[in-house]
Amino acid sequence: MSATIKILFFGDIVGQSGRRVVRELLLSAHRPAADIVIANIENASDEGFGFREEDIRELQDLGIHGFTGGNHSFHLRTTNDFIDQYPMVLRPANYPCESAGRAWCMVTAGSTTIAVINLLGHQHMQSSESPLLVVDDLLEQAGRETNLILVDLHATSTGEKAALAYYLDGRTSIVCGTHTHVQTADERILPGGTAFITDVGACATMHSIIGMDFDAVYKRLLGDRQASMKAASGRSCASAILVEVDKTTGKALHIERISYSEIEASDNGALSREALPTVYRLAASRQCEQGG
Ligand SMILES: [Fe+2]
Repeated sequence: MSATIKILFFGDIVGQSGRRVVRELLLSAHRPAADIVIANIENASDEGFGFREEDIRELQDLGIHGFTGGNHSFHLRTTNDFIDQYPMVLRPANYPCESAGRAWCMVTAGSTTIAVINLLGHQHMQSSESPLLVVDDLLEQAGRETNLILVDLHATSTGEKAALAYYLDGRTSIVCGTHTHVQTADERILPGGTAFITDVGACATMHSIIGMDFDAVYKRLLGDRQASMKAASGRSCASAILVEVDKTTGKALHIERISYSEIEASDNGALSREALPTVYRLAASRQCEQGG
């Protein structure tokens, strides 16, 4: 029996394109060899906000064992109705309001079990309190079961992610950041043996604004707060990390970034020319307002 396990973690899966590229990777010869697979699914619905029961089932069928969330976990009202039926689907411990679901769980695949903890950042986010204030209690609970522990900190602030990682160094196997949808190139093993990356990145349409369709993003940037964003479509890229952990000590031995580009889909997610007149009109009316 191997003395180590490998954990594969996918960053935010965004919309149908994100689910499709994860499917392509996991069903291909390029599938990374991993004992346990976890994914952040707070953007996994077709619209790109929240997730539906069928999204969970679809991803479970691909061999993903556990799921984390974030600030959009309860974007869809229906989530409250089913999340408690899926003990492997987490929501952040410090979610801003009373909510259903669990903040940590044990995930088992074959003969391997790890604990997964989900937290929300406090800086530039709407969490109820700092993750630093809630993580020790969660670690104590999880630590009674195993020393193989993954923490997903869904946060905006790079500094906050690093601060939590060093605070947990030597007490968890992995601290990984999610939410900003861009994979950072700072993966490393901290001195105490915790694998860390500031952000795993997203599984999302490549030519998009961090997974979102162009039109509404530009409108919002120009002041139209009512423009509703949706997930983009087109050829996608999956971002993940693969971490090898010593089963006895719970310490990470190796971390590598994974970035997989979809082969079969085509680029149809380019900026729509039809969207541009709207953008220009908004910009022009703004200039008039300002007397420019
Ligand atoms: Fe998020």
